[in-house]
Amino acid sequence: MELQQIEDKLKTVLKPSRYRHTLGVAYTASCMAMVFDVDTERAYRAGLLHDCAKGFSIEKQRQLCERYNICLEGTLTKSPQLMHQEIAPFLAKDDYEEEDKEILSAIGCHTTGKIAMSPLDQIVFIADYIEPNRKIIPGLIKVRKLAFEDLDACAYEILNNTINYLTECGQEIDQRTIKTYEYYKNKKEN
Ligand SMILES: [Fe+2]
Ligand SMILES: [Fe+2]
Repeated sequence: MELQQIEDKLKTVLKPSRYRHTLGVAYTASCMAMVFDVDTERAYRAGLLHDCAKGFSIEKQRQLCERYNICLEGTLTKSPQLMHQEIAPFLAKDDYEEEDKEILSAIGCHTTGKIAMSPLDQIVFIADYIEPNRKIIPGLIKVRKLAFEDLDACAYEILNNTINYLTECGQEIDQRTIKTYEYYKNKKEN
């Protein structure tokens, strides 16, 4: 699909604030791509598609998980907000004709991250956290600077902040978030 077609379609399925966030992620991802020698169009496209499943109700997302054989055990039952990440690669393929495996990988780990992320995976993961429409939270200014300097250090910082935040709120932390955190912590220390 052409970028314009993707944007037009997303505009009809996402609420206005989510659509604005989506554009923010796409533009931020393409700016980061310029810094880290990643294809800018690919980064923009991944940014556009990352929350393509977020417009559906939790019930509808559950149905989509069943349709795509996504296992609903473990954290997904306790943290249904993670379902949209699992659905995104399938939906991007079916509804937005996205075939680029690197893009599908990036949107499929944009919330939890994963071990040994590619530069594009990291860019989408980070852009989602720092895009300009995000409200300022503690640590965000540091993360925004790092985003254009060091992808590994930036990913580590985000994961650290996220785990601290979820712990403070008493919320369930996905195993992948913890594993990703440990991976980037090790990378930082070695
Ligand atoms: Fe998301
Ligand atoms: Fe997002």
